[in-house]
Amino acid sequence: MSLFDIATRLVRTLPAESAHLFTIDALKWNLARPRPQLDDPRLAVTLRRAGLRLPNPVGLAAGFDKNADVFEQMLAFGFGFVECGTVTPRPQVGNPRPRLFRLSEDGAVINRMGFNNLGLGMFVRRLSAMPRATGIVGANIGANKDSADRIADYVAGVKGVWPYSSYITINISSPNTPGLRGLQDRGALEELLGRIGVAAREMDAAVKGRPLFLKVAPDLDDVAVRDIAEVALAQDWLSGLIVSNTTIARPDSLQSKHKGETGGLSGAPLMDSSTRVLAHFHAAIGDRLDLIGAGGIASADDVIAKLRAGAQAVQLYSALVFEGPMLVQRIKADLVARMDAVGATSVSDLAKA
Ligand SMILES: Cc1cc2nc3c(=O)[nH]c(=O)nc-3n(C[C@H](O)[C@H](O)[C@H](O)COP(=O)(O)O)c2cc1C
Repeated sequence: MSLFDIATRLVRTLPAESAHLFTIDALKWNLARPRPQLDDPRLAVTLRRAGLRLPNPVGLAAGFDKNADVFEQMLAFGFGFVECGTVTPRPQVGNPRPRLFRLSEDGAVINRMGFNNLGLGMFVRRLSAMPRATGIVGANIGANKDSADRIADYVAGVKGVWPYSSYITINISSPNTPGLRGLQDRGALEELLGRIGVAAREMDAAVKGRPLFLKVAPDLDDVAVRDIAEVALAQDWLSGLIVSNTTIARPDSLQSKHKGETGGLSGAPLMDSSTRVLAHFHAAIGDRLDLIGAGGIASADDVIAKLRAGAQAVQLYSALVFEGPMLVQRIKADLVARMDAVGATSVSDLAKA
């Protein structure tokens, strides 16, 4: 058992949000820093539309490093890419505590954080100080809860982070900002992406080729999937989709006393439903957009399931709460062992095996 595994057990005895804040502080002050390792070259994947080459397909999902405090440390733990945010134009305190719950019996988390963050100014200052060689660091942008013009918030986000991020994620799928997910409705999405497209073209004239992704919810029926896919495909500047955010559903299987808490559910109980929605998007989109799979990943098997459903890369967050940051090394070692076993030369080969 590594030092990080022991630390993970200790941190889990704290209330969920205190544990998170303590972890961020410990990482920030470099109390815990792993030795970075080079990835097996067979783990590298390319997001074609985005033009991003990732050293491995396992990314850190948004919400862990909301204020771009510790992306270098998380890259050093072995993530192939790290997504910071969600950041909103103005700082925001989020919902009252408690707002983060561990459902330990279920390997799950419920959160209703509500986009607590220090705002775009601080976020951009931190990202802009990043040395060029650090790695792939994305910026996930959202809207302030009390904004009079939410689309303007996304436009401000795109313009603010554009020069300093490896890619940008437009997050319209958090269940914790009332009305936000309404931006996934066809008409609202057309207006949102229309205005972001104008900003993207304007920014692209100054700094070329910043990939943009749209992050969607798992709670979408077939018509909604088809509508979003069609609108997304009509944007020539959009690189892909991240499927998915947390769910507002509460599967009957949940055991924890926290299962009735309001918010987004993530972790193991989200794996199958988010993978199904990913497969629906893949059926509608094929290879015309890059797909990043998220929701419930805790093992190499889960990564392979997302790749088989059509993802080129994946992200995880909740499993870290239970397994600690060494999980990413374990998943990658397992992927490499499986490639050795079947003679696969790439992760997409492995997914087909
Ligand atoms: C505590 C917490 C906070 C999150 N905050 C954000 C966020 O700010 N923006 C976002 O796009 N997703 C956020 N997410 C969703 C994750 O990025 C991810 O899409 C989701 O949790 C599914 O992956 P997982 O099951 O591996 O956690 C958050 C998730 C958790 C657990």
